[in-house]
Amino acid sequence: MKILVFTEKPFAPAAVKAIQNVINAAGEDMVLVERGTRQDLLQAVRDVEGLIVRSDIVDEEVIASAPKLKVVVRAGAGYDNIDLKAATDHGICVMNTPGQNSNAVAELVFGMIVMMCRNKYNGTSGSELKGKSLGIYAFGQVGRNVARIAKGFGMNIKALDVFVADDVMIEQDVIPVHDVNVLFSENDFVSLHIPATPETKHSIGYDLIVKMPKNGVLVNTARKEIIDEDGLLKALEERPDLRYVSDIKPDKAEEFEKRFAERVFFTPKKMGAQTGEANFNAGVAAAEQTIAYLKDGCNKYQVNKCK
Ligand code: 3PG
Repeated sequence: MKILVFTEKPFAPAAVKAIQNVINAAGEDMVLVERGTRQDLLQAVRDVEGLIVRSDIVDEEVIASAPKLKVVVRAGAGYDNIDLKAATDHGICVMNTPGQNSNAVAELVFGMIVMMCRNKYNGTSGSELKGKSLGIYAFGQVGRNVARIAKGFGMNIKALDVFVADDVMIEQDVIPVHDVNVLFSENDFVSLHIPATPETKHSIGYDLIVKMPKNGVLVNTARKEIIDEDGLLKALEERPDLRYVSDIKPDKAEEFEKRFAERVFFTPKKMGAQTGEANFNAGVAAAEQTIAYLKDGCNKYQVNKCK
């Protein structure tokens, strides 16, 4: 059987080698397409049984071009890039690899916070994290890693997650919050970790952001779609003390940078999970899950409905 590893943003070479080893050890063949275009993907999926991707778009057209495809594994957490309904309609199992890249994303949260608090290292006097409060929006794998690291900085930590019991947070010295308005109004930093769903899209806007305390910093290592960009622009205009750092370039990046140069920062490409360790963990997990599904029908971490 053939398993296509398609990544517009390539894994580290050691991760690719490890993925290849897993696939070959199972007696299967790996087809590797890195930095590929959509056309490359449409062409390469034609004769494969398994597909491993990152944030690469797997929509109805891609799925319809892959008559032999049985399983798609998103090497990572968020699967908003995959058309789950189309996959279900074609009898294809979709899985993610939860937790495998979450430490990498959490570390970047602090990399970006420190950079912003030190005024992008421009030589002027900045501020420290110790004793400040951090609100974590969604207490999944990334949120929990963020809490763990924040403790080392000596921060006071709160979190909001309707799917997580208070006890889970309390065990980690995190104070549970049950109202998003409170999360924003009581924390110097708010770190977003909610997925992009129809409910969360554009849900972080002016009304919430202006509630942040003086000198607040909003951190987004989740998805650009969760931000109401016009609302954020309005909040930054009205509150010259607020700052926004994001691992995802907003659609209106140019306008943000032109109007609020010193108060915003965007990575040029999504970098949260782009470490050798995260690539290795997520890539190998994806390869193992693909093989386990093709050989034994093991569908642990399936995220779409079975037909
Ligand atoms: C994820 O959802 O796992 C992260 O956003 C990482 O995405 P990436 O693999 O495209 O870097």
